[in-house]
Amino acid sequence: MRTVRDLPVEGARVLVRADLNVPLDGTRITDDSRIRAALPTIRHLRGRGADVVVCSHLGRPKGEPDPALSLRPVAARMSELLGEPVAFGDEEGPLRLLENLRFDPRETENDPGMAAELAALADLYVNDAFGAAHRAHASTEAVAHLLPAAAGLLLEAELEAFRRLLDAPEHPFVVVIGGVKVADKIGVIDRFTHMADAVLVGGAMAFTFFAAQGMAVGASRHEDAEGQETARRALADAAERGCELVLPTDVVVADRFAADAKVQTVAADAIPEGWMGLDIGPETVASYAGRLRDARTVFWNGPMGVFELEPFARGTLAVAEAVAASDAVSVVGGGDSVAAVNVAGVADRITHVSTGGGAALELVEGKTLPGVAALEEAAAV
Ligand code: 3PG
Repeated sequence: MRTVRDLPVEGARVLVRADLNVPLDGTRITDDSRIRAALPTIRHLRGRGADVVVCSHLGRPKGEPDPALSLRPVAARMSELLGEPVAFGDEEGPLRLLENLRFDPRETENDPGMAAELAALADLYVNDAFGAAHRAHASTEAVAHLLPAAAGLLLEAELEAFRRLLDAPEHPFVVVIGGVKVADKIGVIDRFTHMADAVLVGGAMAFTFFAAQGMAVGASRHEDAEGQETARRALADAAERGCELVLPTDVVVADRFAADAKVQTVAADAIPEGWMGLDIGPETVASYAGRLRDARTVFWNGPMGVFELEPFARGTLAVAEAVAASDAVSVVGGGDSVAAVNVAGVADRITHVSTGGGAALELVEGKTLPGVAALEEAAAV
């Protein structure tokens, strides 16, 4: 794939699509990883005398301005990190961040008119927004056909990390999948039961697997008959493919969904009526950690429990530690698991921490990412 290194950027005006969709608490950025991840491409361009217009979405506004989702705080943070002024919105300057693209409904409609307006701002287009590459939007898809286009350094690094994970992984290959719904992750589970030695399950989806096997799950969140059927099929497929689909053997349960709830650890098949499972238990943690220790390749997506509440964070943080402690090539993708890696302070001991959530999952499922496909088509002409 053509990258920013192949473009004649010296003295050019370059439009950079980044994924600056960061979590905000009011105007405070609670995790600036995505801003930091966008810097190498911006530095590469500025270092070669290019004028840079950066654009991104933030959140999901309804196609009209929403002050709570302005990118202004991101411009300020970017300026601090770069040590260079960042003009914002309509302001002029050699480095500028546009306002949230999704304030215009045409962005998510992949509208050619909006793409033409963006293209008019620059001579070259660089897509560095891995996290948004699964969206066919004006700034990720249509615009790539209007200017000489290439991938940014982050997009290149992300695709390379996933290629390494998926093309020829060393075994044992151990996958950890958490999160709420089996339905959301079934594509990923299906792909990995084809290629991994073990898929370790955590998060609320474990209770759907339990219910699917006729176990009592108390008041734990779980899916209905359809979700359970999906879970049963995943278990049968894994068995047929010789992949171990491993479920928790113990869980931390609470009498209500609150940080100060009554808490106990019970066997997975002994969840008391009225109690809800909110984390994997210590026996499961030890077993998962042991498998991760022996792995040569690891992929992790999705938390093991409700890790934003302290009494239910242990399973997720322990998995983060175990992934970091392993000598395996390790890839972590998905907002929540990445947040856990950051909270555990182990990001620098993981081979690749992805900036993509949905994009990473779609790539793993084997889907074509429209943002990437547009660059490939553009490079071919
Ligand atoms: C993400 O956070 O996964 C990306 O920024 C994409 O956001 P979206 O799901 O709102 O398109």
